[in-house]
Amino acid sequence: MADPQPGYRPAARWLHWIVAAVVLLMIPAGLIMIRDGISRPVQDALFLFHKNMGVLLVPVILVRILYRLTHKAPPLPRTVPGWQRIAARLSHVMLYLLLVVMPVSGFVRVRAGGFPIELLDRLGVGPWLPKSERVAEVAQSIHAIGAYALIAVLAIHVAAAIQHALIRRDGVWSRMWPPAGPGKTRAVRPGR
Ligand code: HEM
Ligand code: HEM
Repeated sequence: MADPQPGYRPAARWLHWIVAAVVLLMIPAGLIMIRDGISRPVQDALFLFHKNMGVLLVPVILVRILYRLTHKAPPLPRTVPGWQRIAARLSHVMLYLLLVVMPVSGFVRVRAGGFPIELLDRLGVGPWLPKSERVAEVAQSIHAIGAYALIAVLAIHVAAAIQHALIRRDGVWSRMWPPAGPGKTRAVRPGR
């Protein structure tokens, strides 16, 4: 068996999986809540969940980005080809960017549209933005385009992760899983 490789630290792993779990719930909630024909109570519950969970996620995303800016990713196993390193880099940068674009555009869409964000309203936080149909429309388009970009990048991201976990078994999967995992990982099939 190969020497142990460095993996992500537990803090990075926890942050990854908490954000991943919430985002993977918010995407279907967002897609369903805007469909025609769903009942009003279900729609209201999904909007309530989506907006408030999105706002709650913001501090976690900020901590995650700050953590990442101050902690380098561990080096990938040598067996990962150059183009895959570049693809991983690009897709991770895209994911971090979308983790900023999505909550900001969602917030602007709701506030410029004059709608409530129940959690912030309860806390007495003001709307922060004047009402503007034009701004709300632009933010809505950015949120929708961002949503489809996020879904596309995530499809590639998850497919790559599964490929590493089940086919290559080169230790890349265990760099991130389990959340409380060790700082070191081992390839099951070194060199593949
Ligand atoms: C079932 C869903 C997911 C799986 C299986 C998964 C798996 C992984 C794995 C194995 C890594 C480590 C890759 C490496 O070592 O280079 C990773 C990294 C990463 N994942 Fe995910 N992921 C999932 C969902 C998400 C979601 C929803 C997001 C964000 C919206 C996300 C964002 C990232 C980012 C930004 C990194 C790079 C970490 C860094 O270097 O800072 N992942 N993911
Ligand atoms: C990581 C964070 C977020 C993700 C991944 C996300 C994802 C989505 C998705 C997939 C949709 C459906 C898009 C479409 O087909 O048009 C959507 C719609 C929506 N989201 Fe988010 N969202 C996030 C954060 C937020 C936040 C923080 C708010 C508000 C506080 C928000 C408010 C909305 C609203 C109001 C819609 C309906 C847009 C419309 O009027 O058509 N989202 N979101």
